[in-house]
Amino acid sequence: MTALLEVEDLKVAYGKIEAVKGITFKVEAGQVVTLIGTNGAGKTTTLRTLSGLLKPIGGQIKFNGRSLKRIPAHQIVSLGLAHSPEGRHIFPRMTIEDNLRLGAFLRKDKDGIEKDIQRAYDLFPILGERRKQAAGTLSGGEQQMLAMGRALMSQPKLLMLDEPSMGLSPIMMQKIMSTIAELKAQGTTILLVEQNAQAALSLADQGHVMEIGRIVLSGTGQDLLHDESVRKAYLGED
Ligand SMILES: Nc1ncnc2c1ncn2[C@@H]1O[C@H](COP(=O)(O)OP(=O)(O)O)[C@@H](O)[C@H]1O
Ligand SMILES: [Mg+2]
Repeated sequence: MTALLEVEDLKVAYGKIEAVKGITFKVEAGQVVTLIGTNGAGKTTTLRTLSGLLKPIGGQIKFNGRSLKRIPAHQIVSLGLAHSPEGRHIFPRMTIEDNLRLGAFLRKDKDGIEKDIQRAYDLFPILGERRKQAAGTLSGGEQQMLAMGRALMSQPKLLMLDEPSMGLSPIMMQKIMSTIAELKAQGTTILLVEQNAQAALSLADQGHVMEIGRIVLSGTGQDLLHDESVRKAYLGED
């Protein structure tokens, strides 16, 4: 069986600067796969390329058996690849519910959309309680919930999350991580980018460590969590 997502020797550049220098990895259906690594490693660039927002200069991306080359971003969403971006990018003046509806902009099944809005409220009750409020009134962690809920509204086959725990309090980070675990338990396939290596590796099936545009180490979440070099470089041990 082929994997849901297959990335092979992917290269992405900004002008002459190569930010992603030939990375290869897979995401199997039902898995949580994480890319970890310090600032500037190329994680966001990778996700933006998978979403069709950046054009690769080399390599292959296959999603659900199909090459994503030359497929525009909005069509990639309709193929089932959703992206909750770094920094969230919610629409602060729109209501929470309208932000969620935006995530379903390609769908025509009204009943299904209503059901999935309800599902987002079940996952994140605070969003339901405040559904008519402007999204800008939410705290950082709640905005992260909204960004994840919005990405789920396209009924993705693969959910990509870019630094969902960034800037959050430890309690809110716990809440976001346990929601990711819950989504995984429900069968959602997730590509998770995190600087919080401990949290990400704890729930990942597979992990890849990125450094300046390359994958330097790969393994199961547990393997990497116990790897000495990972512990030194990313888990603050010496
Ligand atoms: N819009 C851009 N223009 C030029 N260089 C960029 C741009 N975005 C990111 N970079 C560079 O690409 C590299 C990878 O960045 P990024 O993918 O954001 O890393 P990460 O998400 O792992 O922190 C960094 O050296 C960064 O400075
Ligand atoms: Mg980033």
